[in-house]
Amino acid sequence: MIDQRGQIIGAKIIKSIFRDGFDMNSLEQELISLNIGGMTSQIREIIRLAFGSRMVSPATAKRLNLKHIKGMLLYGPPGSGKTLIARSICKLLNAKEPLIVRGPEITQELYGASERHIRALFDAAEKDEKQYGSKSDLHVIIFDEIDSIGKKRGAAAGSFHHDDKIVNQLLTMIDGTTELNNIFIIATTNRKDLLDEALLRDGRIELHIKIDYPDEQGRKQILDVCTRKWKQASLLDIDVDLQEIARRTIGYSGAALASLPQLSSTDILEFLKVAHSLAKFKKKIEAHPLADLASFDEDKAKLSC
Ligand SMILES: Nc1ncnc2c1ncn2[C@@H]1O[C@H](COP(=O)(O)OP(=O)(O)OP(=O)(O)O)[C@@H](O)[C@H]1O
Ligand SMILES: [Mg+2]
Repeated sequence: MIDQRGQIIGAKIIKSIFRDGFDMNSLEQELISLNIGGMTSQIREIIRLAFGSRMVSPATAKRLNLKHIKGMLLYGPPGSGKTLIARSICKLLNAKEPLIVRGPEITQELYGASERHIRALFDAAEKDEKQYGSKSDLHVIIFDEIDSIGKKRGAAAGSFHHDDKIVNQLLTMIDGTTELNNIFIIATTNRKDLLDEALLRDGRIELHIKIDYPDEQGRKQILDVCTRKWKQASLLDIDVDLQEIARRTIGYSGAALASLPQLSSTDILEFLKVAHSLAKFKKKIEAHPLADLASFDEDKAKLSC
């Protein structure tokens, strides 16, 4: 939502991110309510970098020569939480529901239909901009798994008439947003190396943020979030030591950690069993450590741009 002066009206929590002395704990609580653990400082930084220019009045932005960021790429290994962050940002901003398009769905469409689909994604924002100008709502478009539609052009022999045309259409639409201040694109990929560089240039999807696997503290926070409801219902065995599990799950993705509590089905009896299976899981990890742990560097598991 945009207020009278053309600023984003976000949840209180987001506005406070930009103030000195920001209370990290309040953002953490908001993220916990969205079932996200261990990403508070990353998400704070992402929002500051991506939306900082939109949080000041248009007059101040002009005076300071601030340019709005139009697009952001979240990249990193599978299951690190990229799609989760992309979807949650709109909730944190109190923005309109994002348009979400999965790259593989677009490439499966018939010749010509993929380009039409991409053009259509920008329709609502264009209409709003014409009608409301600087008071238009912010439109967020999420290109999930963009590597399937944004591959380097000319990379695959014989693919020109489909894949390359899709990239060209995407570039045209993103360039068209120069006049649109009400669009923000979030793209996700675990294959940044495959993407056409033209997509990632200044003025296009220019902010690149690596989302890596969590360190021990992050793992503990993810486990806390995922078992929160059990704890509230006193369904978690007293001897389940989440800190210990976090210590022993080096190299586990957020997705792998979040799936631990789903080892059994969800009715109450199964819930009780799950608490036991978590304890058993400790033993399983000891018996089958991940093969690639030796190459995992916890210090690298942090935000990098
Ligand atoms: N920090 C986290 N806190 C809580 N749950 C998480 C976290 N990270 C990942 N998950 C869980 O893992 C699931 C998968 O994460 P997500 O789909 O965002 O991964 P991804 O990085 O987009 O993976 P891929 O590259 O395969 O698309 C989420 O739906 C969520 O259940
Ligand atoms: Mg994803």
